[in-house]
Amino acid sequence: MNRSFDADRHLLDLAGMSRERMELLLGRADHFARGGAVPRALDGVAVCNLFFEPSTRTRLSFQLAAQRLGAHVLGFDVSSSSASKGETDLDTLRTLEAMGVRGFVVRHREDGAVRALAGRAGADTVLVNAGDGRSAHPTQGLLDMLTLRQAKGPDLARLKVLVVGDVRHSRVARTDLDGLRTLGVEDIRVCAPAELLPEPEVLAGCEVVPGLDDAIRGVDVVMLLRLQRERMVEGLVRSLDGYHREYGLDARRLALAAPGAVVMHPGPVNRGVEVTDEVADGPHSLILRQVANGVAVRIAVLEALLGGPQAPHGVA
Ligand code: CP
Repeated sequence: MNRSFDADRHLLDLAGMSRERMELLLGRADHFARGGAVPRALDGVAVCNLFFEPSTRTRLSFQLAAQRLGAHVLGFDVSSSSASKGETDLDTLRTLEAMGVRGFVVRHREDGAVRALAGRAGADTVLVNAGDGRSAHPTQGLLDMLTLRQAKGPDLARLKVLVVGDVRHSRVARTDLDGLRTLGVEDIRVCAPAELLPEPEVLAGCEVVPGLDDAIRGVDVVMLLRLQRERMVEGLVRSLDGYHREYGLDARRLALAAPGAVVMHPGPVNRGVEVTDEVADGPHSLILRQVANGVAVRIAVLEALLGGPQAPHGVA
């Protein structure tokens, strides 16, 4: 089996994706989000959702997307699989490849695990990173960019965007920052407790503003992040009430943003910690729009990567 590595065949990250390629994928996803016909481009193709970490939105929306394209979709439950008997990730991949599975949507707790698997995959195998450790979550980044464009128009460059919360442990933050920079956004602010700020290179081009009341003034977009308690050293955030008081978004704080400001959160939401119910469920919230766009983006990505030469915007 040829195991040569061709990073462009897969979707591993948004870092390094050209603006042109991103715009093509977003345009196709927007078409699907607006009810455009979904071709049976994956008729007969087998796709496995290989999730080594829990997920609701990403796993099920990839399942829906692949089904709508006509694929055979295999779920993978780690606890009832031979991974629980010690089978390695690579042997799992090779076992499924031997069954004829061509597409793998992979979530993993370790940074770089999906890229490492892609480097050992067969020549016809396609991997999509559904979130690895703190590194990247490219389809979340794309669905966030799509949601922003639908809400604010295609030219994002003039927007003031604020990212709030646990940037340090967040693959969504890293990927959204890559997406925003690629699409020309220049005014990006970041607000987080000092212990939840990431390494400086992640924040290239961003302004770190310590207090949320200052950071939120006049912004058009507030991107909230989930506190990633499963990735934290014990005690990094001492009190959830204290976090909410300093970094939680409520109606008073939202009123300091620009008129018509929108609120985003990748989910799952820790209600009463990152955001109040009133804001999460209020008229400025795009949280469920993000979820809906997840299906459209994943149709576009699977079509481009696995739909063959007839796919209109092939990534490969
Ligand atoms: N946003 C996101 O990745 O959610 P899930 O963990 O539910 O897939």
